[in-house]
Amino acid sequence: MKNVLSGIQPTGDMHLGNYFGAVQNWVRLQEQYHCTYGVVDYHSMTMPYKADTLRENTWKMVFYLLACGIKSENLFIQSLVPEHVELSWVLGCVTSYGELSRMTQFKDKTDQLFETDNDAFVSSGLFVYPVLQAADILIYHADYVPVGKDQQQHLELSRDVAHRFNRQFGKEYFRHPEPLFTETPKILSPADPTKKMSKSLGEKHYINLFGEEDRIRKQIKSAVTDTGDTPAGQMSPGVQNLFELLRACGNLTAHDALMADYRAGALKYSDLKEEVAHTVVALVHPLRERYAELNADKRAVKAQIQESSAEIRKRAQQTMREVRELTGLVGMK
Ligand code: AMP
Ligand code: TRP
Repeated sequence: MKNVLSGIQPTGDMHLGNYFGAVQNWVRLQEQYHCTYGVVDYHSMTMPYKADTLRENTWKMVFYLLACGIKSENLFIQSLVPEHVELSWVLGCVTSYGELSRMTQFKDKTDQLFETDNDAFVSSGLFVYPVLQAADILIYHADYVPVGKDQQQHLELSRDVAHRFNRQFGKEYFRHPEPLFTETPKILSPADPTKKMSKSLGEKHYINLFGEEDRIRKQIKSAVTDTGDTPAGQMSPGVQNLFELLRACGNLTAHDALMADYRAGALKYSDLKEEVAHTVVALVHPLRERYAELNADKRAVKAQIQESSAEIRKRAQQTMREVRELTGLVGMK
């Protein structure tokens, strides 16, 4: 069976964009592949953060993922597998300064830091972030990596690093991971559908999967449909986004019927919003129930994830034994 590996940063809330753009796909892949998913807390240390918040958000993300249908045996917390950092050092030594300098996410994130602070601290962790990501992927010999398009460059780097490692140490040891892009286009902000749904834009720009159902309804009902600058005869991004949500939720019957109304010039936006609100709330409802159940026994769930992380760690340790052998490091007792 082929290996699938992916990671998500513990950033607090989980929104509809994260769900339809990533997590829903991760859940489905579990039926077909040997899947391993990490909550990548080491990665979240690369930008300014608070220690307590990081730990809290890491567990929160674990609970969200389980509630969405990720199986506990497939889930680990990255920092409970410290071999990721060890491999990342080794891979860093076959990654050039030049290729890391070309990573656009590094540039985007430094710009983001300087936007609010002229003297912002840019950590070297942020610079070597893609090497740690390559370690996440290669340590489990992943064949496929489900990610958003924004991660394409990091995936290419992982392949290049695997190739260079194999050439330098004379063995086809690491696999060349391939990205699996989701079919869902970017989900847009309900408050400004010219931008993608994202937490960094502020609360009104994302729909929190585990927020109050009433708030979800309200946000959908007040979603911007017409920005006024859509050329005649074209569907505005806000309306497209609402149709996309119906499709992503799998309510194709309503999608097709409302689309027929739209084409006939008879669509009432209030009807479309009503249907989207209803469909999204129905989809989210069982996930929220599951989340509440998991929270009722927090300690047991946490123990389970400590356990699954320890199991997954064994695979990482095996890789590190082989890497030590190949690279000339002294073997551990
Ligand atoms: P982030 O929290 O932005 O790092 O995203 C985590 C995952 O969710 C990544 O795989 C993204 O590609 C995906 N994602 C984030 N925002 C959206 C969005 N608005 N639409 C679709 N996918 C998204
Ligand atoms: N960099 C990814 C993101 O921002 C998260 C990530 C870390 C990841 N390690 C990974 C994704 C390994 C896939 C595989 O979304």
